Amino acid sequence: MMTHQKAYITTPIYYVNDVAHIGHAYTTIIADTLARYFRMVGRDTYFLTGTDEHGQKIEQSAQLKGKETKAYADEISATFRELWDDFGISYDKFIRTTDEEHKQGVQKAFNIMFANGDIYKDTYKGHYCISCEAFFPKTQLVDDEFCPECGKATTVVEEESYFFRLSKYGQRLLDYYDQHPDAILPKSKRNEVIRFIEGGLSDLSITRTSFDWGVKLPQEINDPKHVMYVWLDALMNYVTALGYGSDEAHMEYWPATVQLIGKDILRFHAIYWPAFLMSLELPLPKHIAAHGWWTRNGEKMSKSKGNVIKPKEVADAYGLDNFRYFMLREVPFGGDGDFSQKALIDRINSDLGNDLGNLLNRLIGMSGKYFEGNVSSHNVETFYAQEFHEVKANIASLESYLSDIMLHRYLEELWRPLSIANRAIDKYQPWNLMKEGKEEEAMALNGLIANILTQVAIMLYPIMPQITQKIAFALGFEINNASWQKYIVEGRLLNDFIIEKIPPLFPRIEEQLLSDPTPQEPQKESKKEAKPKENAQAQGIALIGIDQFFQTSLKIGTVVSGEEVPKSNKLLLLQVDIGEAIPRQIVAGIKEWYSLEELIGTQVCVVANLKPAKLMGLKSEGMLLAAKDGEGLCMIRPEKPKAVGTSIS
Ligand code: MSP
Repeated sequence: MMTHQKAYITTPIYYVNDVAHIGHAYTTIIADTLARYFRMVGRDTYFLTGTDEHGQKIEQSAQLKGKETKAYADEISATFRELWDDFGISYDKFIRTTDEEHKQGVQKAFNIMFANGDIYKDTYKGHYCISCEAFFPKTQLVDDEFCPECGKATTVVEEESYFFRLSKYGQRLLDYYDQHPDAILPKSKRNEVIRFIEGGLSDLSITRTSFDWGVKLPQEINDPKHVMYVWLDALMNYVTALGYGSDEAHMEYWPATVQLIGKDILRFHAIYWPAFLMSLELPLPKHIAAHGWWTRNGEKMSKSKGNVIKPKEVADAYGLDNFRYFMLREVPFGGDGDFSQKALIDRINSDLGNDLGNLLNRLIGMSGKYFEGNVSSHNVETFYAQEFHEVKANIASLESYLSDIMLHRYLEELWRPLSIANRAIDKYQPWNLMKEGKEEEAMALNGLIANILTQVAIMLYPIMPQITQKIAFALGFEINNASWQKYIVEGRLLNDFIIEKIPPLFPRIEEQLLSDPTPQEPQKESKKEAKPKENAQAQGIALIGIDQFFQTSLKIGTVVSGEEVPKSNKLLLLQVDIGEAIPRQIVAGIKEWYSLEELIGTQVCVVANLKPAKLMGLKSEGMLLAAKDGEGLCMIRPEKPKAVGTSIS
């Protein structure tokens, strides 16, 4: 990986249909770690993140919220950017696919692919999953209808479309992956991709006509009813961000060094993306690195399940660097991880508090007590040669873990010098050395520990940028390219210095700091005081006029009958009389909290002017009002019986 001096790191661009959760934070933190590492070691680094704003999914989300699509995209995109700024994510560019330069770049790519014969016009007939923004042949669907990736109902699409000749690139892709065995990381994921390609690639529909929230085709094509398929648009961001198709200002960073993604979007990045690049005659990224999924009690996180973890809440409660460390250390890269506060607290108290923080405290204590805060590296090699050389070899081995994006292993290895240092204190017992008058040995032991902490702090900096600078401050230096060069590359020892007494970096955490909203786990008392809620405006909730409120038609209804939805743990199919000729059919995700007996014959509040939607293949013609908190969900009902169809205002 360290073959060329420039480094270009990318995250996926995040859909603006929802705000960020810890899955998004995970990708971004890994990317930030790599970018910080590359900068520290002196590489000219460019780090890209941003938001993916086109496509049917975003258009529908905006409609559901009753917002104009661009305004909605602006709003959510800003929340991502604010979160990353708040987290000190060191991105160089935040791209939005609604940026003009990006659109120009995508159009340029379309023109080139069209001119070289890789794009042709035909009719697409098949199934489309709006949630995944992906086409699926019928053979891949579950029960002939449901998306194999996310389980949601697909829609049948039959429309005129431009196609990309993906089929033409199958063999070239296989050859490429054969010649570049580490192009896809972790290596286990490579086989998956190869098997998929070997199964045969169909040409890819790359334009849509049934909606228009997307990049238009280039003028030269003269076909205004088509917009680009959102994945063609989105994948191109990695080069349009560098100026492809506009000012080309940063194209020297291409090809990317590492493109981080989640495993769910590997197919797009390891098949479509390189094929597009081949068609454009651009080099392929050095590495596509796919991480696993964060789950909550074994389940995928989603808003509807109420088990989403907000990264900002976790970072505010437990400390941003601690959160970063936890995410990278807890789960082997590529594997899935289950988020639990208990595991996070264990890592903070044990790895960070006991192994790292306590070592610094002991050094501060011992040098204060015996040497008035003086620390000297003289005689470290004389008295502690074995420890010194073990640590040196260990630090030298770290880069290989980083190259393979095995960050959990990197951290595991980085903890060895800490255990060498902690063991050295127990073994040589400086208090006895002092009693025996072996002051030089005791001073050299402190020197050994200070130098170990120096090296660990530098190598830990990309993961914990704030805390490690504090450690460095206590030891009298600053972490940057010069200190990396001096203490890691040249292996120089610290000059004599007086240690700065800093407060403990990892105060022990005795109990969960955030209340746990998932019904599966008993609710624990939150240690933090619940803050009084700010008013709506201060919380960033947009205010609306009364006329906007009245655009929603809310009615009293009576549930007249119902049945369970086969194969679904969540859904009930209800017939609700709202005073119309026939009852409305409503699919409601309330089965976990209500039985049919509890519902039939009772009154409910219905959103009556929602566009019909399909859930598990069943048409739903409205929505029931309900409220859900950590304890579960309850229906919102009239206090006294009211005539069906009565408007709620
Ligand atoms: N917009 C596309 C990416 C286009 S890149 C040209 C997209 N967006 S996303 O917002 O749905 O997801 C962005 C990233 O977040 C993906 O890499 C995805 O894997 C990751 N995660 C989303 N949920 C996740 C977890 N629960 N856990 C870990 N990462 C997950 O896909």
